[in-house]
Amino acid sequence: MNNWLSARAAKPLVFVLAWLPFFWLAGRTLTDQLGPNPAEALVRSSGDWALRFLCLVLAVTPLRVSLGLSNLARLRRMLGLWVFFYASLHFLAYAWLDKGLELPDIARDIAKRPFILVGFVSWVLLLLLAATSWNGAVLWLGALYWRRLHRAVYLIAGLAILHFFWMRAAKNNLTEVAVYAAVLGMLLAWRVRRAWQVRIRGAPSSPGA
Ligand code: HEM
Repeated sequence: MNNWLSARAAKPLVFVLAWLPFFWLAGRTLTDQLGPNPAEALVRSSGDWALRFLCLVLAVTPLRVSLGLSNLARLRRMLGLWVFFYASLHFLAYAWLDKGLELPDIARDIAKRPFILVGFVSWVLLLLLAATSWNGAVLWLGALYWRRLHRAVYLIAGLAILHFFWMRAAKNNLTEVAVYAAVLGMLLAWRVRRAWQVRIRGAPSSPGA
C-alpha cells in the first residue's frame, strides 16, 4: 500500500467497501430475497460479516510486518469499528426479529443458552473496545493500560469462535467453523511467535514492526 495505494486513498476505499455487505443485506431484505426464513438469514449473515471483519482486523499487523506495508496500521481502528457495527447489527437483528425487542425475554435467553451468553460477552467486550477507540481514550487510560485493554480482541476472537462452534455443533455442521478457527489460529500463532522473537532478540526481526 505504501507505493501502489496511499493511506489517504485506502481509508475511503475501505470505508466504501465495508458498507457493501450492509447494502447487499438491506437490498435483499427490501426485495424479499432472503429465502424462506428472512430473520434467520439476517441474523446469520450479520454474524458472518462480524467474524469476517474480525479476521481482517487481526490480519492487519501480520500483513503490515510481513509485507512492509506500514500504512496498513491506519486501517486497523476503522476495521475494528466495522466489527462492532456488524456485531451490533447481528445483536439487533436477533433482539428485534427473534425476540420482538422484549428485554426480559432477551435477558432470559442470555442466561439460559450458553452460546447466546458467549456471543453477548464478546459483544460487550467489543462495545468496550469501540468506546475506547478514539485518541483521547489513550491519554485518558494511559498507553500501557489502553494497549492491555485492547488485547481483549484475542479473547473476543476466541469467544466468537466458541459461539459459532456451539451454534453449529448442535446442527452437526462444523466445516466453516473449522476454516475460521484455522485462520484465527494462524493469526494468533504469528503474534505468539513474534512476541517470542522480540523477547529473545530484544527487537522485532521484521521491517516495519
Ligand atoms: C449479543 C450478542 C450476540 C447474540 C445475541 C448472538 C446471537 C446469535 C444467534 C441467535 C445466532 C443464530 C443461531 C441460529 O440460527 O440457530 C448467531 C449466529 C452467529 N453469530 Fe452471534 N450473537 C451475538 C454475538 C456475536 C458476535 C460478537 C459474533 C462475531 C464477532 C457473532 C458471530 C456469529 C456467527 C458467525 C454466527 C453463525 C452464522 C452462520 O451460521 O453462518 N455473534 N448468533
